[in-house]
Amino acid sequence: MTTLDHPDAIPAGPAGEGGYPPLTVGGAYTIGKLSSSQVMALAAAAPWDSSDPVDAAVAKALRAERPDIPIPDVGPWDVDPASPQRRYSVARTRSFDMGGGETSDLVVLRGELNAVLAKVKTTRETRAVLKRNAAHNNRAGWRPLLVATAPVGPGDQVGEFTLQGFVTIGIGARQGEVLGGPSNWSRVNVWSISLRFQHWLNVAVIFTLSCTGFLIMDPLFRSSAYEGEQTGFVMGWIRFVHFGAAFLWVVIGLTRIVSAFTSRDPHLRWPVFWPLKKKQDVRNLGQVVQHYLFIKHEAPLYLGHNPLQQLAYTGLYALCAVQMGTGFALFGLYHQSNWFWALISTPCHWFGVPLVRLFHSIIMFLIWCFVIGHVYLAVRADSLERHGGISSMINGGVWLRRGAQPVDAPEIG
Ligand code: HEM
Repeated sequence: MTTLDHPDAIPAGPAGEGGYPPLTVGGAYTIGKLSSSQVMALAAAAPWDSSDPVDAAVAKALRAERPDIPIPDVGPWDVDPASPQRRYSVARTRSFDMGGGETSDLVVLRGELNAVLAKVKTTRETRAVLKRNAAHNNRAGWRPLLVATAPVGPGDQVGEFTLQGFVTIGIGARQGEVLGGPSNWSRVNVWSISLRFQHWLNVAVIFTLSCTGFLIMDPLFRSSAYEGEQTGFVMGWIRFVHFGAAFLWVVIGLTRIVSAFTSRDPHLRWPVFWPLKKKQDVRNLGQVVQHYLFIKHEAPLYLGHNPLQQLAYTGLYALCAVQMGTGFALFGLYHQSNWFWALISTPCHWFGVPLVRLFHSIIMFLIWCFVIGHVYLAVRADSLERHGGISSMINGGVWLRRGAQPVDAPEIG
């Protein structure tokens, strides 16, 4: 037990006014027995007239999220602000609501991760969990403000400090708000014009091939409604469009292969097709999966594709190659006198035409499944991360918070 110095010894000076960038709170994380809202309340423990921008940001976040929780009462003499030598502040609160009808007088430490960790006793596991979570937030541009408390007993006896959690502080807009000017966000050009052009051309071609392919698989114009009527050359035109789009698709595929070996854009080069190059990539993949399954709050930040995304796209490329293979195997059947087409039709000779047709149709439905998942995840990522990912497929650039540290790019300045 240590004794809290007499309040006279604690300088109360405000942290400075004006010139600060606007700060916001991303969220509160609990690691002790208190709820995340209580952690945020402790982080807001400051004199009511404090001009410290962190105090103001946390108080604002608490008022917005939990207006029912009062900002802890801290007298002007009960606070000792952080300094470059001691990177945490000390504040004393009285009668803090610990929940369950219990109140406690507390000394609250708020500050940098390592500075606060040096003052508390925790297990290695807790430290590891905390550091991992803090690192995730760091990469996304949020700085963790750690909160630890110690009970104040009779005669101002201060007990041991316990880690309670942290709140994340960011420069600029709060996650989910479209506030904050360009000074807080940085626009990074990621997608080259050729990739964007190919993307939308692929969309148009796959849409055309799907519509015409579906009509070849299940011809509308042979339904009972048209029985006995002349449908003319309609199916011929549908097949013509299918084949025309198919040849265009092959040309797009070939340009993608050429660019994989010749492009100066690293996002187009062939190594991107296999994202699991190190053990850390596999760990990041696991974290992204957990994030998508709503198990993990944060996922590693990538400027380009995250490993799960990239594996999905590489898988799609492979699926599309098989679709081209089965399609041309069927197309070649009309030209069996030519050795080239006879060779291309080998799958039909080996497995039989019905099986190849079945495969060709099943792959169409798999591509549709991909498209549904792809659109859902693109909208989800765009709305949660606010990086403008959907419009980046038109204008090429994404927005990232300054200070964010993507796995695959230098810190965003
Ligand atoms: C290079 C790519 C492609 C080629 C060369 C190709 C070629 C063909 C050919 C020759 C047929 C048989 C036409 C007939 O017998 O009248 C066919 C049918 C079909 N195609 Fe494609 N196709 C390609 C891509 C696609 C794509 C991307 C889709 C859908 C996403 C698709 C969906 C279908 C479907 C559903 C059928 C009907 C299958 C059946 O019941 O026979 N095709 N395609």
